[in-house]
Amino acid sequence: MSAEIFDKVKTVLEKIKMAAPSDAEQLEQFRIRYLGTKNIIKPLFGEIRNVANERKKEFGQLVNEVKQTAESKFQDLKTQLEAANESAESSDLDWSAPAEPIVMGSRHPIAIVWNRIVEIFSRIGFTVAEGREIEDDWHNFTAMNTPEDHPARDMQDTFYLLNDPEMLLRTHTSSVQARTMTKLEPPIRIIAPGRVYRNETISARAHCQFHQVEGLYVAENVSFADLKQTLYYFARELYGDSTKIRLRPSYFPFTEPSAEMDISCFVCHTEGCNICKYTGWVEILGCGMVDPQVLENCGIDSKKYTGFAFGMGIERQAMLRYRINDIRLFFENDVRFLKQFSAADR
Ligand code: DAH
Repeated sequence: MSAEIFDKVKTVLEKIKMAAPSDAEQLEQFRIRYLGTKNIIKPLFGEIRNVANERKKEFGQLVNEVKQTAESKFQDLKTQLEAANESAESSDLDWSAPAEPIVMGSRHPIAIVWNRIVEIFSRIGFTVAEGREIEDDWHNFTAMNTPEDHPARDMQDTFYLLNDPEMLLRTHTSSVQARTMTKLEPPIRIIAPGRVYRNETISARAHCQFHQVEGLYVAENVSFADLKQTLYYFARELYGDSTKIRLRPSYFPFTEPSAEMDISCFVCHTEGCNICKYTGWVEILGCGMVDPQVLENCGIDSKKYTGFAFGMGIERQAMLRYRINDIRLFFENDVRFLKQFSAADR
């Protein structure tokens, strides 16, 4: 019997210790419960009758402790509450004053251009594919028809992983072509935005990391005319309706024929200015018909299917669009630079 009464008193003590009234009303309830005329501690004193003689003293002390704890806790809480009220009243806060404006972050210019390119191509049925930044030699080079002795494989250009010479940081998003074609059956229509790495000396024009978007369309009867029309649509969407395009023959190991695409200068409209270096045209991407060997390397029947591909640097497009003349600005995260781009701009 005694043990039960002890437990009961101890529970009351715990409750008092744990109580956390947060306003005047809750505090008043605390007072009524533990210190009021009909408080619950008083009857505990009467319980002493039921306690064995040898523990009566101990019990009396315990109930006294309960009472004292309740009293001192009440005093403490009261002082705290009064102090809080006082500081709220005396503070010179003007609750009717208009709020400080919330400073919205802005999107990084690379993200803005990246999203814009994705949006333009998704409207004509391209979906986003992803590859790997840490890539193997096969996907980055071999599958893409880049011979062993091609200068792009040179240690000068590629970051190889020290513990595994077969692994590298991808040098272009073209590796996503191989990743996709080995996985999916045609028709394939993807774009692959992502970060790429090259062992370059950092300057205003070059960086060891940058971003590209790859495009790939493989199906039956895909022609160079499809490539040209797709890129014409893209150029007009990104650079404006009056944009003209020009394709110049070029060479890439993974396309045959290959071309580089220029757009008419959107600043001088081919009159000649320093953006287009007085040529009237600005180079924006590389492209071509997927080399049949690349299709075969990835397990696609090159007699049945043809395809086109293109690749462009995102920094290049952003530099043109925002007239930024130093690529390093994209990676320094200087707030004075970043805050010039609108938060609303996607
Ligand atoms: N991978 C090339 C580069 O990094 C860009 C490129 C050119 C991609 C032509 C292509 C292409 O898909 O067809 O410079």
